[in-house]
Amino acid sequence: MRRSVLFLLVTAALVCLPLSNALAFHDQGVAYCAGCHTMHNTNGNGALIDTTGAGYDYLLKFSNATDLCLSCHATSRGAVWAASPTAPGNERGPGNFAFLLEDNINDGHNGATSPILGHRAGHTVISPSRGTVADLLNPVSPGGNYPAASLGCTSCHDPHGNANYRLLYGAGDHAEAGNFNYTMAAPVAEGLGFGTTSNPVFETVDNHVAYKSGMSGWCANCHGNFHQNSTQHRHPSGVTMSTAIRNIYNTYNGTIDQNGGNAATAYIPQVAFEDPDMTIAWTAGPDVDSRVSCITCHRAHATSGQNSGRWDFNITVYEEDGVESNSWVMPQPGNYGNDNQRSLCNKCHNKDKNDHNAF
Ligand code: HEC
Ligand code: HEC
Ligand code: HEC
Ligand code: HEC
Ligand code: HEC
Ligand code: HEC
Repeated sequence: MRRSVLFLLVTAALVCLPLSNALAFHDQGVAYCAGCHTMHNTNGNGALIDTTGAGYDYLLKFSNATDLCLSCHATSRGAVWAASPTAPGNERGPGNFAFLLEDNINDGHNGATSPILGHRAGHTVISPSRGTVADLLNPVSPGGNYPAASLGCTSCHDPHGNANYRLLYGAGDHAEAGNFNYTMAAPVAEGLGFGTTSNPVFETVDNHVAYKSGMSGWCANCHGNFHQNSTQHRHPSGVTMSTAIRNIYNTYNGTIDQNGGNAATAYIPQVAFEDPDMTIAWTAGPDVDSRVSCITCHRAHATSGQNSGRWDFNITVYEEDGVESNSWVMPQPGNYGNDNQRSLCNKCHNKDKNDHNAF
């Protein structure tokens, strides 16, 4: 713990007013300090929080920022880290960190005998309580330079709150985690409400995160122009779609019904796109100002497909999902949940039009 930080924290704590419990905890700003910090490494009854007596960095109540956030967000308020990777609960948008603990997510050929470990499921946040360590494959963010050894909740979310979507850092912000400066704006989006245990809120075709703009730019804070550079043969992101691609998205209704869809009901959250007019209840396919984005193919936290895929990139048909690996089968809506469904790349490119299963 740096002395100057300690001093600042103690001084700031003196002017910190406790908020009423009735207010939402972060309330779009700094929540009450003692919700996350302890001034004396005690729990209020004189007992030590860190029983070694040393106390934690930044005077946190948990051994790192990630464990602190998980104390409230693991299984409620977004439920970002379910108790088991084979029972992740309802999808709400970002996926689930529980998949980091999978012993195999490989549903490709011979996947059972060549396991892909859970750290490949997405962003490997380091949590002492869950036993995750820095990602074993990527020492820094591919395409950029964010250190995997510093990756945690506060790499992306501002613990002291801000007005951005999901408290994400944006241009000009400094993340203490990883000592990192953000240069690109936070994305514009509208998320689902948190719901309650008896009345859960989750992703469906007409109730989903509304991605409006800026997600590709935001990911580029750490990933540079990964996937975004037409001169380097990478899939475009952050660009509008040609009429031909939009028409395919609108008419494609799964491998078994490739021309049966229509523009009014074409949207599936498994192949999301950004649009300035996007709403939570949006059901239509893309129009002239809709954009393919990083979030078209990836979820922000982790999934049971490799590389935080919105669908499993390693399988040929949907019935293979979860089979070799014994991992969670990512649900797909309606016709897309058919055993013979091919990769969801087809939602925009329809390369399964000669498939024998088609009729
Ligand atoms: C939601 C949890 C949370 C709340 C509430 C919170 N903090 Fe923090 N604070 C953190 C975390 C986590 C860090 C460690 C740095 C990081 O990971 O971003 C931190 C770091 C700090 C630091 C040192 C680094 C920096 O950013 O300057 C100070 C000072 C600080 N907090 C003061 C406060 C004060 C004062 C309040 C109340 C007004 C407060 N915090 C409320 C989570 C919180
Ligand atoms: C003491 C419990 C508690 C802790 C600790 C906590 N949160 Fe929260 N968080 C909440 C509650 C309650 C909400 C619900 C809405 C609100 O307060 O804005 C919430 C909401 C959020 C949201 C959604 C905000 C929105 O308006 O869309 C994010 C993102 C979030 N928290 C991230 C974090 C991160 C990152 C940490 C760790 C630095 C953290 N939280 C620590 C209780 C907590
Ligand atoms: C690599 C960046 C990144 C990291 C690391 C990260 N988040 Fe997020 N998080 C996001 C983004 C982006 C969203 C919005 C995703 C969306 O709407 O699809 C989000 C959404 C959320 C939400 C809203 C969830 C919901 O169901 O609507 C919560 C709560 C949250 N994060 C908490 C956390 C916690 C706790 C951690 C650490 C265990 C964490 N995040 C780590 C980027 C990150
Ligand atoms: C059209 C779908 C699609 C879009 C859009 C997309 N990705 Fe990917 N991404 C993939 C697939 C599929 C993989 C698996 C490896 C491969 O095929 O390159 C992947 C892999 C990755 C990886 C892992 C690479 C590695 O070496 O481990 C990162 C990081 C990544 N994508 C980031 C991004 C970012 C950032 C964006 C937005 C700028 C983005 N992706 C947009 C489909 C996409
Ligand atoms: C704060 C920096 C940061 C931001 C912002 C960020 N990432 Fe990453 N990302 C990383 C780091 C570091 C790694 C490498 C370590 C790992 O894989 O966990 C990574 C790895 C990945 C991977 C490969 C995961 C795996 O192990 O298979 C994908 C895919 C990815 N990021 C996509 C995205 C997308 C999409 C966004 C925007 C929604 C995004 N990232 C935003 C830091 C970031
Ligand atoms: C949301 C729609 C969407 C999805 C889903 C999608 N793409 Fe694309 N793809 C595009 C757009 C837009 C272009 C740019 C060309 C155009 O507009 O006609 C493109 C271009 C391509 C190209 C040509 C690139 C070049 O430089 O010539 C390939 C190859 C490709 N996509 C493969 C894939 C694969 C593989 C997947 C699944 C991992 C995928 N796409 C998913 C929208 C999509």
